[in-house]
Formats: sequence, C-alpha cells, structure tokens
Amino acid sequence: MDLKDIFEDCKSLWDLYQMLPNIREHSLVVAEVAFFIGKRLTEVQNSLSLETVVRGALMHDIAKGISLKTGEDHCKLGREICERHGLWEIGEIVEEHVRLKELPAQGQIREKHIVCYADKRVMHNRVVSLEKRLSDILVRYAQGRPDAQERILQNFSLAKRLEELIFQGLGINPLDLQTFLEEERPLRNFMEE
Ligand SMILES: [Fe+2]
Ligand SMILES: [Fe+2]
Repeated sequence: MDLKDIFEDCKSLWDLYQMLPNIREHSLVVAEVAFFIGKRLTEVQNSLSLETVVRGALMHDIAKGISLKTGEDHCKLGREICERHGLWEIGEIVEEHVRLKELPAQGQIREKHIVCYADKRVMHNRVVSLEKRLSDILVRYAQGRPDAQERILQNFSLAKRLEELIFQGLGINPLDLQTFLEEERPLRNFMEE
C-alpha cells in the first residue's frame, strides 16, 4: 500500500471523528518524523512495518478531541476507536503513545517505540528537541503539582533512553532531525490536496 492510500484511509477516520485541524497538523508532522525514522530503521532492522508506523502515527491522537470534551483517556479511547475499525495492528501503538509499557527489548525497536518518540519531538506542528517538548509539557500538564511533575520527568527520562537506542543505529544526531525533515516532507502534499 502506498503512502497516499494510507493517508486517505486515516483521513477518512479523522473526518468521521471530526478531528480538529490543529490535531491533524500535529499528527501529520508526527507521521513524517515517524516515517523518517522508520524508513531508516527498516534498512537495518527488517522486522519493522513502515505502513504500521505511519498508520499508528496518523491515528495516535484520533481521540484527542473527544477526550478534551469528555475527560476520557485519549490513549485508551484511541485504541478502542482503532479496534472498532479493525485496525488491530495499531491498537497498542495508539494506547502507548504517551507512556510506553516497556523500552525496546534487546535493542529491537518496535513500531510503538517510533511513534511514541516521534510524538515527543513534535510540539504542536513543529519539530523540537525532547527537552523543549518536556518543558512545554511540564508547564501545560504538571501545573506545579509535584506528583505530576515527577511522572512526566520519569517518562521523559525513558524517552531520552529511547532516543539513544533509536539513533545509535542511524548515525544521525537527534537534533539534526529538523534539518532532514525540511527536505523530506512526504505527507505534506496529501494534506494540501
Ligand atoms: Fe496524544
Ligand atoms: Fe500527539
């Protein structure tokens, strides 16, 4: 299946669940980051499905808008939505996109690791460093509560470890991601059509 078909498929679900324009923008950029990393990792690790990476990234925040209204957990609800539409292969990716249940075992990066990491590199629709995204999340979600702050910090130290694992095989500096993406925006055109 080519990228355009994957995008159209996911977009029909964005439409069905009335995903907001800013969340669509965000998801598109997350998918581009995930695609970039996934494509390079599939060259060294053939167990990965690039299609699953892109689908998971495009769908990771499918429930965000609904959750903002109902207060539900958008990760769990997102998984339910995916499974309702038969997208079993991305259920776990969507559910774990904020908080991974585990880091890669024996260095084997899986699709869910890529999507979770990519989401942490995209602030709204901009690619930023993990540290920048962390400080944004701390301000928006912890709001000075020490327990929340602690959980977020722990989650980001996992993300930092994940970053090392992902990039050690790629021979790229994580901070150069932005520069690479300026030239490689494979999904951008579909959005504008
Ligand atoms: Fe999310
Ligand atoms: Fe997200």
